[in-house]
This record gives sequence, structure tokens and C-alpha cells, in this order.
Amino acid sequence: MNRQRVGVVGGGLMGGGIAEVCARAGLEVVVVEAGPDLAAAAQRRVEGSLGRAVERGKLSAEEREAVQGRLSFGADLEVMADRDLVVEAVVEDAAVKAALFRRLDEIVARPDALLGSNTSSIPIVRLARATRRPEQVVGLHFFSPVPVMNLVELIPSVLTSPETLAAARDFAAEVLHKEVIQAPDRAGFIVNALLSPYTMAAIRMYEGGHATREDIDRGMRLGTNHPMGPLQLCDFIGLDVVLAVAETLYAEFKDPFYAPPPLLLRMVEGGLLGRKAGRGFYAYG
Ligand code: 3HC
Repeated sequence: MNRQRVGVVGGGLMGGGIAEVCARAGLEVVVVEAGPDLAAAAQRRVEGSLGRAVERGKLSAEEREAVQGRLSFGADLEVMADRDLVVEAVVEDAAVKAALFRRLDEIVARPDALLGSNTSSIPIVRLARATRRPEQVVGLHFFSPVPVMNLVELIPSVLTSPETLAAARDFAAEVLHKEVIQAPDRAGFIVNALLSPYTMAAIRMYEGGHATREDIDRGMRLGTNHPMGPLQLCDFIGLDVVLAVAETLYAEFKDPFYAPPPLLLRMVEGGLLGRKAGRGFYAYG
């Protein structure tokens, strides 16, 4: 089925990136943010990214014009009414996401529309149950920076229909040309269930004074060819997101292995959220 009209709710790093790759794939995309200022910021972020793609010779100026012509930004969720597919990419908070799914269920008029969530770790079934069409809800988990990272985790809940799963797979693989892995509807899915214990262990090592942040990061970059060390990666993802994922994993499995260390809690409480805040484990200019 042709899913030309896409809606993205949330225009942050992830939502903006998802909107960008959809528009670059030829789809018509509306991005909805919580207010006009946030919508304008989302537009600036996506246009900045497209501008960098032009500078790097990945996109021609004409292509950029065409991509921008397929993108619109606003603060009114009602525009989701005619969408074939809506991807939710708002804050990693189960109550906020469930409330949004409840509203989308009221607004999205097309009876066979797909409702996807870019949650990092929240069980899809919980979001599906907020709607009257749980069989049409599926996890579509992208990775940051979305235009660069080739992976999408596809997460069916116990209520997702085979048709929804096939359509979502087709969308990610054939339309967006991403590699798709199917993940279980368990907290953290595949990637964050493996990544989170690793980043928590790095924070614990730093917190315990066993090594400097630079040596922890250099160790993993040079010793295992990771593009970023674990503390750099936390700053890149955002410490609030890193914490939310760890808390979801810990709540599900009750295993100390997943528990967020006090330093992470204190840094988030102190607003040291990483790159986006100008300071996390490192300071950014
Ligand atoms: N948008 C588009 N393209 C970008 C980009 C962005 N935001 N950031 C970097 N790029 C592109 C550059 O254009 C460049 O492309 P080119 O080589 O074809 O010119 C390429 O990526 C490399 O960029 P740079 O040379 O500027 O910088 P680096 O080599 O340091 O790469 C990086 C930057 C791609 C971010 C790399 O450091 C990396 O892969 N880091 C790890 C990212 C990662 O692990 N992401 C997953 C996080 S987990 C997640 O998202 C899940 C969530 O649930 C928590």
C-alpha cells in the first residue's frame, strides 16, 4: 500500500531526523510540536541538517528545495487527520506517550493508518492499549543521527496484526531503505537492552574513580573501534534519555545490572544533559 502522507509528532533530534529521511524518500511530511516556538525550532533543525547535506555534496540545491517543499511544521495535532502513517517521537515518558496515542486515535481518520512509536524502551503494548486500534500500533525505533544510522528496530506488540507488521517493515526497508531488525516487546528491545548496561557500567567506572572519562572513551574507541566512547555517546544521546531508558529496563527486570548510578541521576537533576545542554560528561562550546 502507498503511504505517502506521513505525520511525525515531536520535532527534536529524533523526530526531526525521522521527518528528514521521510521527506528525502519522497514522502509528504507534517511535523507537529507542542507549540509554535518548538515547531519553528524543529524546522530550523531540519533545514540546518539539509543545508549541511548540500554543503557536503550529498544533496543538490534543487533536491533540498524539493525536500523542504514536502515538509511542513506546526503545533496543531489535528493535521494528523489525513495521515497514512504517524510516527510518535516525543519525550521518553510512558504517560505522555500513552496520552498522545489516545489523542491520535481520535484524530487520525484513515481506518488503516499505521501508528508507530519511536520509543527507546517503553513496551509497545502499553501504547497500543491507549488506542481502539491496538492491532495498528507498532514500534519503529530509529537511531541517532537518523539520516546516518542505517538501522530501524521493528517491534510488534502481542496485539500488532501481521498486516501492520508487514506494512511497517515495508515502509522502513523499501521506502526509507533502512536495515530492519525485529525486536521483542521487552523493555529496551534489542539495542538498548545491550547498550544501556554498557553505558551504565562506564558511568559507574567513572563515578568510582577507576579511570578518567577520557581514558574510558579512548579505550572503547581505540580498543574496539566504536565511533564514540560510552560517555561521549551518553552526551550525544542526551542524559535524560539515557536515564529514562535505564529506568525502564530496571523497572522491568529488577536487575542491578540495569540500575542507573547516582551520578547519572544527579547530572540529570542538575540539567547536565549532554550536548544539547552544552554540558554533560564534557563541556560543549
Ligand atoms: N545528520 C546527517 N549526517 C550527519 C550527522 C547528522 N546529524 N552527523 C554526522 N553526519 C554524517 C556526516 O555528514 C559524515 O558523512 P560523510 O562521511 O559522508 O561526509 C558522517 O556522518 C561522519 O560525520 P563526521 O565526520 O562529522 O563525524 P564522525 O565521523 O565523528 O561521525 C557520528 C559522527 C556519525 C555521529 C559517529 O560519531 C557515530 O556513529 N556515533 C555513534 C552514534 C550512535 O551510536 N548512535 C546511536 C545512539 S543510540 C540511539 O539513538 C537509540 C536511542 O533509543 C537512545
